[in-house]
Amino acid sequence: MPEELPEELAVALASSVDRRGALGRPLVFLSSTGSTNDIVQRLAENGASHGAVAIALAQTAGRGRHGREWFSPPGAGLYMSVLIRNRAIAPLLTLAGGVAVAEAIRRATGLAPAIKWPNDIVVADPHARGRRRKLAGILAEGSTTDAGVQHVIVGIGINVRPADYPPPLVNRATSLERELGRSVDAGLLASEILVALNEQVTALEAGEREEMLDRWRRFSPSSIGAQVSWTASGETITGRTAGIDPEGALLIRTGGEVRRIISGEIIWD
Ligand code: BTN
Repeated sequence: MPEELPEELAVALASSVDRRGALGRPLVFLSSTGSTNDIVQRLAENGASHGAVAIALAQTAGRGRHGREWFSPPGAGLYMSVLIRNRAIAPLLTLAGGVAVAEAIRRATGLAPAIKWPNDIVVADPHARGRRRKLAGILAEGSTTDAGVQHVIVGIGINVRPADYPPPLVNRATSLERELGRSVDAGLLASEILVALNEQVTALEAGEREEMLDRWRRFSPSSIGAQVSWTASGETITGRTAGIDPEGALLIRTGGEVRRIISGEIIWD
């Protein structure tokens, strides 16, 4: 059952109503749910319009990319999903979501995160040279019929406060409050995410794909010259990142050739 918005969220969202277009109409708040992506999928099936949003403060079945669980305990983060009904821009929403979240974190907190392809939001780990810790992740899930993509749900998880991360995450995750050493207004953050996502969606609808990709490139120094490896047909291949192409695929130089990666797991050395 949807609940009343907490004060912090209600105030911040009211202040951004003129800057976020249709995003946040309707907005469903749940203190805890299975997955906000599933809530928005249900809203979409019931005819919700472009911009419908679900926000939760905990998830019991939060999911991440590559079928992983997204750690979403109460008191640690902000979990939100947005329904995008424009199928023409669907393939670019993964990168556009990354730009929006990185931009919103910068505006709401002053922290300057980076993006690791395709859309991990990371900061440098001061205790391990060259290593990064993940602050936020984005899962864009498309709903497809025989007629093609019907809508996309952009799901965003942000680590706001320190938490007892399970072993695989303990050295890889961080939170906004840990990085900043002060408390963060999660309402302002949610509000700025909707504003920034609306900006990126509007830009793509206006045909500004290259501008969005350039913003992504500026947030992602590791997309050029970083040592990476990945597995293809049982073989591990290593190479160096060589930017992204106009479709948002990651280019990797290996030996004398450049390979184009559209999905799959990259290991960053
Ligand atoms: C990743 O693996 O990096 C993507 C994580 C995406 C997590 C968010 S939290 C809100 C939404 N609901 C989910 O179940 N997943 C996404």
